[in-house]
Amino acid sequence: MCGIVGYEGTREACDILIEALSRLEYRGYDSAGIALLGQGTIHIERRKGKVEELRKIVSGAALKGSIGLAHTRWATHGVPSERNAHPHRAGDVVVVHNGIIENYLALKQRLKRAGHVFMSDTDTEVIPHLIADYAEKGRNFTDSVRLALKDLKGSWAIGVLKESERTLVAAKNQSPLIVGIGDGEYFIASDIPAIINRTDRFIFLEDNDMAIFRGRDMRLTNVDGEEVVREVRQVRWTTAMAEKGGYSHFMLKEIFEQSRAISDTLLGRAREEEGEVEFEGVDLPDLAGIRKIWMVACGTSHHACMIGRHMIETNLRIPVETDLASEFRYRDPIVSPGDLFISVSQSGETADTIAAMRDARSRGARTLSICNVLGSTLAREADSVVFTHAGPEIGVASTKAFTTQIAVMFLLMLFIGRKLGTFGCRDVRERLREIRAIPRKVQSVLDTTRSIEAAAERYMSFRNFLFLGRGINFPTALEGALKLKEISYIHAEAYAAGEMKHGPIALIDESMPVVCVSPADRTYKKTCGNMEEVMARKGNIILISDDETHEMAARAAQVIVVPRTIYELQPILSMVPLQLFAYHIANLLGTDVDQPRNLAKSVTVE
Ligand code: M6R
Repeated sequence: MCGIVGYEGTREACDILIEALSRLEYRGYDSAGIALLGQGTIHIERRKGKVEELRKIVSGAALKGSIGLAHTRWATHGVPSERNAHPHRAGDVVVVHNGIIENYLALKQRLKRAGHVFMSDTDTEVIPHLIADYAEKGRNFTDSVRLALKDLKGSWAIGVLKESERTLVAAKNQSPLIVGIGDGEYFIASDIPAIINRTDRFIFLEDNDMAIFRGRDMRLTNVDGEEVVREVRQVRWTTAMAEKGGYSHFMLKEIFEQSRAISDTLLGRAREEEGEVEFEGVDLPDLAGIRKIWMVACGTSHHACMIGRHMIETNLRIPVETDLASEFRYRDPIVSPGDLFISVSQSGETADTIAAMRDARSRGARTLSICNVLGSTLAREADSVVFTHAGPEIGVASTKAFTTQIAVMFLLMLFIGRKLGTFGCRDVRERLREIRAIPRKVQSVLDTTRSIEAAAERYMSFRNFLFLGRGINFPTALEGALKLKEISYIHAEAYAAGEMKHGPIALIDESMPVVCVSPADRTYKKTCGNMEEVMARKGNIILISDDETHEMAARAAQVIVVPRTIYELQPILSMVPLQLFAYHIANLLGTDVDQPRNLAKSVTVE
């Protein structure tokens, strides 16, 4: 999705902004632009394509200025092009925007009638025109911004620069925006990695907040002009965490970080000796009398929810309903007061997941978020939040966020089990021993990356893949297929193995490899039966199992053996080779692994 950065300080802003913009590239975009205010007028440059194109132009132009805004655009209204790229300008007002202005057509008609001329097809362009319109009617700059914001319907994070007043304003509603506080300088950004090398002190703006930067001062108000106070928070992510560190792609680095990320996620929480799980500093909702749990998310995080459901229902016998956030919010779900609603999100900024959580809360549910980003909207708005300590995830394909989400769900399941008396200390101790061994086992899978790369070479030219799994392994199959399709553009779909004969079996022949996730668990025999059906139709099987003596191993075209653990945690170990398989195929095909076409890291619009 679109990315915003801004600077107000004493240094030359151009390089700072371009560098911050390149740190936002991972969010996905199709064009980029910059506005710099030097001594005189605002200078704007925009380019279709990569930030690098913009960098070439501005470095040649030796642009000067210590106040500025820059933007990466992910097209919603209007094709990717230079004239639709941000910043947009009206008079001496310049705007960058992330989000969607839902009533832009009505506003555009109104402004056109008042004589405004539009240069782009975007919804965004109404914002600078509205501000300029109020300014022409005699309002001062900040009042003009406030009034314009009140006219808007939809979602926005905006940066506004006014030439004549040398003032920068940042404001948000339902799209993320943060302020970084440096030494005599301020930054604005869509997220932390953009400016993590500049400061570790951040203000997470809330909906309807406006930050006004003028002459090295910052003032925080709401859209009604009333002063607001927001906490300055220190974030312990380091610059190195948001860089590739010698790996060819962020995705590969993040796959290899999983052992560390899971260890960090367990740290201080898995009290093996005591047989307890602690979430220090987390005020979890009262769990007494809990009758139903909801687990709602999008994409990869939704697959983690499906795994969480298996864990909780099997062990705690509490009914769990999972849903895609985009479906939940429009189906008038039957949520009862007192239900526990768990939203799961790496970014904490996924628009549908936020909306689903708000909906559940309005129906009386207690809300808990599993989230990776401090200060994100889900983390702030949920009654409680348990963080995954994965560190920044930059690759668009989610990897370490997924496995740490499963680790948190497992801890949560143990925690709830202890609270409700379903588990004794001994039960928890035994299970904690298993999860403590997971980082080491993950590492042993990572060590086999060469052989997985060799398998990728064998399969890179196939155009269709089917992924199968049963029970807790079905979401693993779904996630394996999602990883492959999103970064390699190969068609891959996943089915619950038992469902194959109800349709997809018609597709099977020698040109359709079938990835079967089949550990030696309660689903083993049944999945073997499905593999027989595939082989009877000349299908090639790629088998992922913890069982070296798997009865289908000798007849599978490819076998990948992973270490064994308990049922609830096996998806972590089965998933790692599938991540590597997808990565190596995409890398061999030469796709843009970290920023696959059409995709955005954080889906902040509906
Ligand atoms: O930040 P979130 O976990 O809420 O994001 C949800 C999905 O957009 C995300 O998992 C997406 O499916 C990834 N590209 C998958 O790799």
